Amino acid sequence: GAPVEVNIGKMEPGQLVRQEWRGQPVWVVRRTPEMLATLEGLADQLRDPHSEEPQQPAYATNLGRAIKDEYFVAVGICTHLGCSPQYLETDFGEQVEGIAAGFFCPCHGSKFDIAGRVFSGVPAPYNLVVPPHYYVNDTTILIG
Ligand code: FES
Repeated sequence: GAPVEVNIGKMEPGQLVRQEWRGQPVWVVRRTPEMLATLEGLADQLRDPHSEEPQQPAYATNLGRAIKDEYFVAVGICTHLGCSPQYLETDFGEQVEGIAAGFFCPCHGSKFDIAGRVFSGVPAPYNLVVPPHYYVNDTTILIG
């Protein structure tokens, strides 16, 4: 499949946009500082907090699992059996499904933080997959 472009120039803080790539949904989330702050201190609740499993590019092994912390790019497919997780856009101290900001898969209850890191004790075996991508310029990401 050909690479696809996502224009991020008009995204609102907290917004998630979807782009199909190779028949899969790819998400881009514009994360707020409050969302990014939720990533701190979660490590002991996560299965692979430092993204040591091999299914992601090297630039997805930092805390935000991103080239630029403000934009999280991931394949929007649960790593358990392929359902589509819901986006939990709660960065105001409120929690949904026990997490402050992230993704929840309704099929079997897997939970991921706002960097797509999977929580322990849920069926999904891996963090959400970060697809190969790069910044063409400040407002354009090329996926693939
Ligand atoms: Fe997501 Fe099973 S497919 S938890």
